[in-house]
Amino acid sequence: MLVDQKTLNILQKIELSDSYDVEKFVILDKPQENWGNIGGLSEEIQEMREVIELPLKSPELFEKVGIKPPKGILLHGPPGTGKTLLAKAAANSTNATFIEIVGSELVQKFIGEGAKLVKEIFELAKQKAPTIIFIDEIDAVASVRMENGTSGEREVNRTFMQLLAELDGFKPLDTVKVIAATNRIDILDNAIIRPGRLDRLIEVGLPDEEGRVEIFKLHSKEMNLKGVQPKELAKLMENFSGAEIRAACTEAGYFAIRNGRSFVTQDDFEQAIEKVRIDEEDTEYKKAFG
Ligand SMILES: Nc1ncnc2c1ncn2[C@@H]1O[C@H](COP(=O)(O)OP(=O)(O)OP(=O)(O)O)[C@@H](O)[C@H]1O
Ligand SMILES: [Mg+2]
Repeated sequence: MLVDQKTLNILQKIELSDSYDVEKFVILDKPQENWGNIGGLSEEIQEMREVIELPLKSPELFEKVGIKPPKGILLHGPPGTGKTLLAKAAANSTNATFIEIVGSELVQKFIGEGAKLVKEIFELAKQKAPTIIFIDEIDAVASVRMENGTSGEREVNRTFMQLLAELDGFKPLDTVKVIAATNRIDILDNAIIRPGRLDRLIEVGLPDEEGRVEIFKLHSKEMNLKGVQPKELAKLMENFSGAEIRAACTEAGYFAIRNGRSFVTQDDFEQAIEKVRIDEEDTEYKKAFG
């Protein structure tokens, strides 16, 4: 098994005397990630900068030209491709408060509180502006609704309606921006991406060979390498996500340790890549056939 890629650090608790819920649910953070930590994705970074960074930093440009920037962005694509990284880097580069919420937690963890929480999160965002609200797994609250029969579904609906109301409630040049992410754009309710809401869609796909070289270099930067050829490795890592490339680096380090070496070789990486690929196929298989 590889080390779990997802870590959630609560860096600071929000002190809000009469809103107990917000404190409990959100992750309030000043992210350390910056644009330079992201490999490949240069077009996506460019777009994020124009849509998030520029309006927060220089709203007067938009006023002068007379256009309204999007209020928010929807990042979509396969797991481990850098969506969360992009959102954090945007917050870092603008020095904005970063409020992170996870859609599935909104609807599962504190049943009955979802809508209220959404309202309080946007209030908090305005207080702490400039703020980027990051909603991960947005599909959990904003998927095409089913029968709307069970109380659970009604609850998700209420949360979703509140989210739409909040998105409609602020102005494009307000200092709050919303970035949402999903792996399941196929099941998303179109209401969320209507003009004036999260109407800028950015696809974050698997990296191409050049992107894989960049990502590999970032994650092996501090490793003690010997005779390693990034270009060759990038070829072997076809279809790997950024998260898998990082995992391969860690695994390669383990191969070196097991062999009593303090440096990591091309061969270590080749074995590591194989291992990550097999582990990945294993989980895919289990997902499909149990
Ligand atoms: N483009 C990239 N450049 C550098 N590192 C990357 C890149 N993509 C992914 N990674 C590595 O993989 C980890 C996971 O990436 P991230 O959390 O951004 O993926 P994600 O797209 O949000 O995935 P998910 O859909 O599962 O939430 C990152 O912390 C980073 O170490
Ligand atoms: Mg993510």
